[in-house]
Amino acid sequence: MDKKLIIAIDGYSSCGKSTFARLIAKELKYIFIDSGAMYRAVTLFYMRRKYIGSTGLNLSAIISELNDIHIDFVFNPDLDVYETFLNSENVEKEIRSMEVTAYVSRISQIFEIRSRMVELQRQIGISKGIVMDGRDIGTVVFPDADIKIFMTASVDIRARRRHDELKNKGINVDFEEIKRTIIARDIADENRDISPLRRADDAIILDNSRMTVDEQMVWINAIIEKKRNGS
Ligand code: DC
Repeated sequence: MDKKLIIAIDGYSSCGKSTFARLIAKELKYIFIDSGAMYRAVTLFYMRRKYIGSTGLNLSAIISELNDIHIDFVFNPDLDVYETFLNSENVEKEIRSMEVTAYVSRISQIFEIRSRMVELQRQIGISKGIVMDGRDIGTVVFPDADIKIFMTASVDIRARRRHDELKNKGINVDFEEIKRTIIARDIADENRDISPLRRADDAIILDNSRMTVDEQMVWINAIIEKKRNGS
């Protein structure tokens, strides 16, 4: 029986981290956790309570109601994916909206929220056999992860991919607007005080600007194989 690994995948937004992590988990029959979805679900919860919105943010209410939030990932066999549930409601679609995307950077900067999410993420990882993607997985959540990948791709390519993805879902958003959002999120991710996005010293960089998903899988499989052979 192969040793169960913890694989941490960090990197910039819209790099295809979740797609990549999901495929790795599927191949290895591991659990896949999209940690960004957790921050998105938390954001949606507070948006609905109107603690974050165009008028600002109610920090004390946010902190005091943090324990009312329960997040689960439930496997949907019809779609062959894990979906995000917020207090037993399937919110997978809603958490991907432009509105949630606009507020999630602010919510993910709050210390109390990050502490709670890290705690939950570590609990999920306790049994190993997990692929988790995010911004601080290799640096904060699992600093001892067996394999750490840091993903990046050019802004134009990321914006193009995101634009196509939204278009396929029937959502028409201006390309330049998407690009601006991506740049703004990069800045927010890299410059927040707590757990900013940075490459762990022992993370392997994957620039997938010119790589297909299949090529990325070949690349990671070689790394997994090497790890399992003890090198
Ligand atoms: O991966 P994503 O774009 O769905 O992430 C949504 C937001 O959550 C993003 O703005 C950064 C934040 N995030 C974070 O701060 N730490 C993580 N581990 C994952 C996501």
